[in-house]
Amino acid sequence: SYIWYQNELLPRQAVQISPDDRGYYFGDGLYEVFRVYHGVVFEAAGHFDRLERTAKALRIPLPFSRSVMEEKLQELIRLNDVQTGNIYLQITRGIAARSHPFPAYAEPVLMAYAYPYERPLEAMRHGISAVTGEDIRWLRCDLKTLNLLPNVMAKQEALDRGADEVILHRSGTVTECSASNVMIVKNGILRTHPANHLILHGITRYVVLGLARELGIPVIEEPFTLEALGQADEAFVTGTTVEITPIIRIDDRPVGNGAPGPIVQQLQTAFDTAIS
Ligand code: PDD
Repeated sequence: SYIWYQNELLPRQAVQISPDDRGYYFGDGLYEVFRVYHGVVFEAAGHFDRLERTAKALRIPLPFSRSVMEEKLQELIRLNDVQTGNIYLQITRGIAARSHPFPAYAEPVLMAYAYPYERPLEAMRHGISAVTGEDIRWLRCDLKTLNLLPNVMAKQEALDRGADEVILHRSGTVTECSASNVMIVKNGILRTHPANHLILHGITRYVVLGLARELGIPVIEEPFTLEALGQADEAFVTGTTVEITPIIRIDDRPVGNGAPGPIVQQLQTAFDTAIS
């Protein structure tokens, strides 16, 4: 498979990564995960907008224009013959001897690749289980940075406890999951955390809220508590890799009647149409 590394498209084994890349030392970089349907990047503009926002906040100059990046991603899709899949793209601040301050001279390092990835049909149809856990991340969760250790730890703890995912909360206020956003339904009303500094502004979240509005489902973007989560009729996650996946158990108690509910199914159907 091919990797886009700096100015080249290289076979994976030809890519040489520097031990002095600040991505290793400090997690000093950003990333995006794009979805590919029918060989085309889904919601590319939203992902590039977020990439640019993150780069600006981290003061990492983007090494390529948006149009060059779009062209290269399409080339990766073609070279790796991806119909349904993902693209991972990351940019670090660059290569320099380990020292905390920004290096005086460092060029950002870009790396990206595309790979086939099937839609998670089983999980979307039958739902997943979740546990709740404290959100111990920093206060700029809106930035898509490489610093994912709290997410990794929380996800592994969920798996160790026999669940599929973790629903994070700050002192009882539900934020999001380890790699997806979370929404609940109560009495026909859809609720999700507002897109502020405490959550990643998910592209799928945005798409799903748009579909809800089209379907006439009332949406409230306000924080909600663990208690509201426990009393929800429906709960589900949204994300590039998970799409819209129902949560049917939380902390060993069923959500609603323990099966995917009508609103999540309605949204899934609308999403299917949006990507076809
Ligand atoms: N994760 N929240 C977090 C913490 C995430 O890492 C992600 C995405 C999302 C959903 O955002 P989007 O709909 O734009 O994918 C929410 C990616 C897929 C990952 O890290 O693998």
